[in-house]
Amino acid sequence: MTDRELAELAYNMLDKSYCPYSHFPVGAALLCADGTVFTGCNVENAAYGSCICAERTALVKAVSEGHREFVKLAVVGRGADPCWPCGACRQMLNEFAPDLEIVVGNGAKELVHTTLSQLLPHSFGPLSLS
Ligand code: THU
Repeated sequence: MTDRELAELAYNMLDKSYCPYSHFPVGAALLCADGTVFTGCNVENAAYGSCICAERTALVKAVSEGHREFVKLAVVGRGADPCWPCGACRQMLNEFAPDLEIVVGNGAKELVHTTLSQLLPHSFGPLSLS
């Protein structure tokens, strides 16, 4: 699946976002090794700390359905800058896919391709505990 195709699935999620507090919709699409795609959006809450990001929504949907191998993630927003994954999401993704490819997009649908290892160098992961 191309970066553009995966990003379009993420852009389709922007209208599903529940973000009455930040008014900052985010969409995500996570490509599994077997070709399955799980999508997500940010879901906010009146207790702000209970908000969940779009990419973590996609990740927990995937893991809870038995998927643990991921190859590429798209995260997009409507801002001028690409929607970079937050630190907590980088850490959660690192648990399952330290070599993940990441595509980020802005409101003009301009895409930037990077990797999780570039966004989270010297990471702490499962092997760090052995
Ligand atoms: N947000 C995400 O969904 N993903 C990120 O990685 C960055 C932030 C959401 C959380 C919150 O609902 C809104 O964007 C503003 O922070």
